[in-house]
Amino acid sequence: MTAKIIDGKALSHKLRQDFKREADELRLRGINPGLAVILVGDNPASRVYVGNKVRACEECGVHSSSHVLPVDTSEAELLQLIAKLNADDTVHGILVQLPMPAHIDVRRVLEAIDVDKDVDGFHLYNVGALATGNTIFPPCTPYGVQLLLETTGIDVAGQNAVIVGASNIVGKPMALMLLQKEATVTVCHAKTRDLAQHTILADILIVAAGKPGLIVPQMVRRGAVVIDVGINRLPDGRIVGDVDFEGVKKKASWITPVPGGVGPMTVTMLIKNTLSSAHRRGGEGAGIGSMGWDAPTVQGH
Ligand code: GUN
Repeated sequence: MTAKIIDGKALSHKLRQDFKREADELRLRGINPGLAVILVGDNPASRVYVGNKVRACEECGVHSSSHVLPVDTSEAELLQLIAKLNADDTVHGILVQLPMPAHIDVRRVLEAIDVDKDVDGFHLYNVGALATGNTIFPPCTPYGVQLLLETTGIDVAGQNAVIVGASNIVGKPMALMLLQKEATVTVCHAKTRDLAQHTILADILIVAAGKPGLIVPQMVRRGAVVIDVGINRLPDGRIVGDVDFEGVKKKASWITPVPGGVGPMTVTMLIKNTLSSAHRRGGEGAGIGSMGWDAPTVQGH
């Protein structure tokens, strides 16, 4: 078996064309969708990600402003900037790129963002809403994974979904989304004993551990769908995921490449959430239910 490729780059391209039309329509109604991106410090990977986000805005006709602050910016200064952007009616989405320097309390910063502009979906209220199945801003990476899974035509209800990585950004929200879709969800992390014992049972395997080569073919069930969220730069400069792509593609039914899989979708879903916020400002209340996320909540067993 050779896996079919789930092409995140192609899907992103198509969605961004749709979003450009949507942004144009909003402008005709007097709403100019806008995103503010904040980067504190000079983490090289973060710089690349922020650059990608600003470029995606340009591609989709979404106004963007980027605020690059020095590494020694105080938490108070950052909170002041967020308060200013919260009050700015031309801004529909605010994103603070993570990670931030150690002297800044991430939680305090994320909770300072207006819930209605929290296009990352990281504010406690949005995290809570995700847990109950009705968030307005699904976090971008798991949201992108969800759309990639939909392209396979596989119904996730009843499937064994195994997630490797329990971060607040990917693993935990991914688990909540798949649970909402009635998958049976296992979350593995750095302390999980015998990782392979779990991954081998996965119908859907989602890997977000940040460890190149972590998932080898022996750990994958024949026919599994494998989604690689990892983005790792090797010493020779190559970008690879967490999955041994060449080996695992011989066992999987579907697999995402790195690059060109999840990465572009993360940025694309940020645009989606920004447009969704602009629609809400226009009084439409475009929320999760309008995005095909209205699956029934899993009943207790
Ligand atoms: N760092 C890595 N992924 C993300 C993300 O999705 N949003 C933000 N704000 N920071 C990140």
